[in-house]
Amino acid sequence: MTSAEIRQSFLDFFRGKDHRIVDSAPVVPHDDPTLLFTNAGMNQFKDVFLGAGTREYSRAADTQKCIRVSGKHNDLEEVGRDTYHHTFFEMLGNWSFGDYYKREAISWAWELLTDVWKLPKERLHATVYKDDDEAFALWTELTDIDPAHVHRFAEKDNFWEMGDTGPCGPCSEIHIDLTDNGDGGALVNADSPEVMEIWNLVFIQYNRDAEGTLHPLPRTHVDTGMGFERICAVLQGKKSNYDTDVFMPVISRIAEVTGKTYEGEATQVAMRVIADHVRMLTFSIADGAMPGPEGRGYVLRRILRRAARFGRNLGVREPFLWRVVETLGETMGTVFPEIVENRAVIEKVIRAEEESFNATLDRGLEIFEEIVTRTRDRGVDTVAGEDVFRLYDTFGFPLDLTNLLAGERGMNIDSDGFDRLLDEQKERSRAVTKKNLVHPGAGEQADVPLSILEGTDPVSRFTGYDEFAADARVIGRYEDADHLYLLLDQTPFYVESGGQVSDEGTLLWKDAAARVRGLLKIDGQTVHIVEHADGFEPALGDGVRAEVTGRARRDTMRNHTATHLLHAALRRVLGTHVQQAGSLVEPDRLRFDFSHFEKVSEAQILEIESLVNEKILEGLPVEQHRDVPFEDAKTMGALMFFGDKYGDTVNVLQIADFSMEFCGGTHVRNTAEIGLFKITSEGSVASGTRRIEAVTGRGVRKYIAGLHTRLEEELRVQEQLREEMKQLEKELARAAVAKGTGQLDEILARAEDWNGRRIAVARLDVGDAEQLKSLGDALREKLTSGIGLLAAVIDGKVLLVCVVTDDLVKAGVKAGAIVGSIAKKLGGGGGGRPHMATAGAKDTEGLDGVLDTAASLIREAADA
Ligand code: ALA
Repeated sequence: MTSAEIRQSFLDFFRGKDHRIVDSAPVVPHDDPTLLFTNAGMNQFKDVFLGAGTREYSRAADTQKCIRVSGKHNDLEEVGRDTYHHTFFEMLGNWSFGDYYKREAISWAWELLTDVWKLPKERLHATVYKDDDEAFALWTELTDIDPAHVHRFAEKDNFWEMGDTGPCGPCSEIHIDLTDNGDGGALVNADSPEVMEIWNLVFIQYNRDAEGTLHPLPRTHVDTGMGFERICAVLQGKKSNYDTDVFMPVISRIAEVTGKTYEGEATQVAMRVIADHVRMLTFSIADGAMPGPEGRGYVLRRILRRAARFGRNLGVREPFLWRVVETLGETMGTVFPEIVENRAVIEKVIRAEEESFNATLDRGLEIFEEIVTRTRDRGVDTVAGEDVFRLYDTFGFPLDLTNLLAGERGMNIDSDGFDRLLDEQKERSRAVTKKNLVHPGAGEQADVPLSILEGTDPVSRFTGYDEFAADARVIGRYEDADHLYLLLDQTPFYVESGGQVSDEGTLLWKDAAARVRGLLKIDGQTVHIVEHADGFEPALGDGVRAEVTGRARRDTMRNHTATHLLHAALRRVLGTHVQQAGSLVEPDRLRFDFSHFEKVSEAQILEIESLVNEKILEGLPVEQHRDVPFEDAKTMGALMFFGDKYGDTVNVLQIADFSMEFCGGTHVRNTAEIGLFKITSEGSVASGTRRIEAVTGRGVRKYIAGLHTRLEEELRVQEQLREEMKQLEKELARAAVAKGTGQLDEILARAEDWNGRRIAVARLDVGDAEQLKSLGDALREKLTSGIGLLAAVIDGKVLLVCVVTDDLVKAGVKAGAIVGSIAKKLGGGGGGRPHMATAGAKDTEGLDGVLDTAASLIREAADA
């Protein structure tokens, strides 16, 4: 059977048992903050098991995309070294939601394996939880398994949990013995590739809470999971998952792009690692994950670096992982079209990340060599924690990479020391965030031992969605030397959260007022920090009026709603891989960080900006659905910001059919109130994360005013420059004339004598015709009696000026005739009055030659 047939026959079998065949959930669980990646088929049904959600069917089956690289189920170290663990794999599963239980789960599993797929019964083993006598009995009662092949194991092997919290219960696993003689019973649960687990049947009956306590669930359920790649290997008679048709095309492609053959232990391990990791990267990016500096993004980055590093072992230095994506599309695209639809993005992301890693890797490897030498010189073979940390922090070397490199040198690393330094770094960044929490400037968050008004609950209602002022009662109070801390039964003051900054404003009591210097959240309640002010001494139980500075808050609301429009526009223009990575919403501006792998082009920025402005001009209603049950919000299709913790009920912000997001912030009622939206900058914050800054409303006016001032200033400067230029030109002209005038005496001295009259000829360097003419005038005066010819090349053309003194004019000599005849020699012509005439000609090359003979030409012309 091909892998496609195996998958289909599993689904068909359970369809025949009245199961609804459902789609795989995304491998990135955007709606479960307790998980980085979908790690089991049951994840999408967690709410049903916990009794919080329902489905319209009580039996389901599917193939689920799973990733196990972090958290409870983490196989990363084994991957590639062995032949049957993967970071990414498909899990075939069938479920009962309060419907059938152990009996059917066991007998159907046996039926499919031995009846339909004809696996040899004598090679199958079943394990049950040590106290699960019921399951133990059912195996021998319902199936013809060899009774000696039913084993009991403790929690570690036979009690399945999804994570630290969540649905769980005892399980029963089916293992297959692939040893030559089929006598590998002792290897069950011994981490042997020869006797491996193929199917896990979990009998869900508890929920583990955050304290670790098990709570029985109202109903019992079945959750099973079979390793698809393993069952393919078994059914296709292969020793390794990588030898099945699931992996062979991928391995071949890797061989093709690396120019190596799948032979020899080291090469095989490297190719297996690469094949596995490219699958993981392809599927997680297709579902919206991005390599990045923390959380899920960091897992992707580590996986990519691990693969790239094994690529180096194959001698490949150029980015190549991205070239394998295409093959996955060809082999798995029918079942999972998302990897075909998003191929271009996936390839780009992987390639960009490979490129940036290659650059740091080279530098990091050099540093690593230095570290090795230094460490050995000291006679030690453990790389110090500081060095490991430096490689990690500055060169992006994941711990396992450094460990691997050290291992290759027969050295090890001080991972405890590394952990310590990492913790310290995290602590430092936490301290920074905490300091920034309170706005504006109330300093460190201290413990504030509030006294609470007797007979009241210390609960403060937030009224700031609808109003900027509230008449409230003081129900909690504390003061120290600098400040008064007040808890009010209701308040319009918004405390920084979800990127939106805290409100500013005042509290009024009797005739006195005090500025709110900051706000704190203590046990979820808003506490106002005010300065001591004359006459402002409200006691517990007193009435005060709380007023938020409306103008600033309205600006903030404009920016917050615009942030949602921007997010939606980004997803439409750049693609749905765009996810919010952080935001800041202030009165003056907004900042939005999001996952994207390359610079947003100017054309895209324009498109995004116009789309947002279009939505503003459409005057769309902005609706806040408050206190919606979490599940309903998900069904509505609201986008959530992964990394946030959501309660049982959430607020959802909807902007007509353009945007719907989880959001507890404050917003305008209609997009028209935003006025206008302008992106002021776009840049990178980290690899794979971009940042856009923008302004709205008053901010745009300020921005335009700023532009206007700059423009005016610019124009003023230009005008000034123009003036200066004119001035300079004039000065230059004056200088040229002066220079020319200075030369006149010299010209006269060189003048030829012609019967007591003089003929002066010269070529001058001047800027324009006017200058040449005025020099001509000057020459005429100095000649007393004679003829002068001045020439210059101006703008690539010859200009000639001829002057004749009055006595010769009277005698009939004509300047026009003289200049005309000379110009003719140079391919031009001209004319003018008898005492002064000008001519133009093209032949600048010929000028000097003609000037050499000009005196005789003049004589001829004058005599004529
Ligand atoms: N949820 C069970 C597992 O992942 C079936 O093994």
